[in-house]
Amino acid sequence: MNTIEYSLIIENENEDENRLPATLQSKIDALENHCFGHIDPIEVEECFYAEKWGRVLAFSQQELIGHLILHKRTITFEGKTMIIGGAVGACVQQNMRRKGVAENMMTIGLKALAKEGCDVACLTVDPVNGQDPIKLYSKLGFVMIPREISYEDSHGRIRYDSESMFIPLGSVEKFNFIMESPVTFHYGKGYW
Ligand SMILES: CC(C)(COP(=O)(O)OP(=O)(O)OC[C@H]1O[C@@H](n2cnc3c(N)ncnc32)[C@H](O)[C@@H]1OP(=O)(O)O)[C@@H](O)C(=O)NCCC(=O)NCCS
Repeated sequence: MNTIEYSLIIENENEDENRLPATLQSKIDALENHCFGHIDPIEVEECFYAEKWGRVLAFSQQELIGHLILHKRTITFEGKTMIIGGAVGACVQQNMRRKGVAENMMTIGLKALAKEGCDVACLTVDPVNGQDPIKLYSKLGFVMIPREISYEDSHGRIRYDSESMFIPLGSVEKFNFIMESPVTFHYGKGYW
């Protein structure tokens, strides 16, 4: 049986030090294209432009088979300052799916975000991907927010979406506050 190895990479504040080896970067690009090639690149550029805080990679026999992006930012929602984390863009190579790779990457990523002081984590679910990711995230403890969220796109326009899930990390109180508030939750600049 092949073992799957996981690697957590935290980005450095110095952008130059974040450059991954070109061969690894091209494998990530290919894997992302395999998983998200159907998404309009303009939408990706305009909405999913937030800086990465880290990533989780999964390897089988030295080959990249999974990728997860991590984000972190401080926001103020209804007068409360909070640190929100993102564990987004979960992507597993087709022939390695349904073996728990995404669940393991998410668990590693969420643990790292919790350790970093995040109160909650949130993510976007693309309805095009069907119910599977929603089932996976629900199993991990994510809950669909029962109203729209908003975010600022790269042109400064406010956009709205209704497919966002949240999980408590450091603060159940802040999680409940977000979920129960009638006010639109604003992610800030970029829908991750
Ligand atoms: C969504 C995605 C990341 C899931 O990756 P994955 O590695 O297959 O996920 P997991 O294996 O952790 O879990 C998926 C299912 O396999 C099941 N599973 C896990 N280990 C298993 C095993 N050893 N044997 C059988 N089933 C298993 C899980 O219970 C889960 O089942 P469920 O959907 O019925 O709850 C993957 O399908 C993918 O890359 N899709 C395209 C991109 C995408 O849509 N990303 C999500 C963006 S929101």
